[in-house]
Amino acid sequence: MVTLFVNGESHSLDIEPDMPLLWALRDILGLTGTKYGCGIAVCGACVVHVNDKPVRACITPVDSVQGKAITTIEKVSSPVAKAVQNAWEEHDVVQCGYCQSGQIMSAIALLENNPQPDDAAINDAMRDNLCRCHTYVRIRQAIHSAARTLADQGGVA
Ligand code: FES
Ligand code: FES
Repeated sequence: MVTLFVNGESHSLDIEPDMPLLWALRDILGLTGTKYGCGIAVCGACVVHVNDKPVRACITPVDSVQGKAITTIEKVSSPVAKAVQNAWEEHDVVQCGYCQSGQIMSAIALLENNPQPDDAAINDAMRDNLCRCHTYVRIRQAIHSAARTLADQGGVA
């Protein structure tokens, strides 16, 4: 039995301890907002937060995140998350959308850690979130926009 604390709720699951977290989220808990892209930690489609840090769910065994707070795109809702989600809409970032939950989770983690990132910091933090539709320019604009909104609100630190 593996117990996962996901989006504020505890789930005791009859699954193998080495099951990738992504499988548990999507196939067992039905949280399909987190996507499967590569399965080998190179595309970023599966990024979720574990204790507020970005983690690639495709290579994370469920056993390693027992007792930790897992947050998925379905319930991420901090002020930073809201600013990022609003900026994504404002800049019409999404094209096909497949990569975007991972992009948003990485962007939130970046701004939680660095409230005013410059282009280099954004490129560095988002480098391993791939987008086959090439929305990178709008992603960068949206992150700057979210940072401005949060600064106007008095900062996030
Ligand atoms: S599916 Fe996890 S990084 Fe690609
Ligand atoms: S929006 Fe299509 S893969 Fe990124």
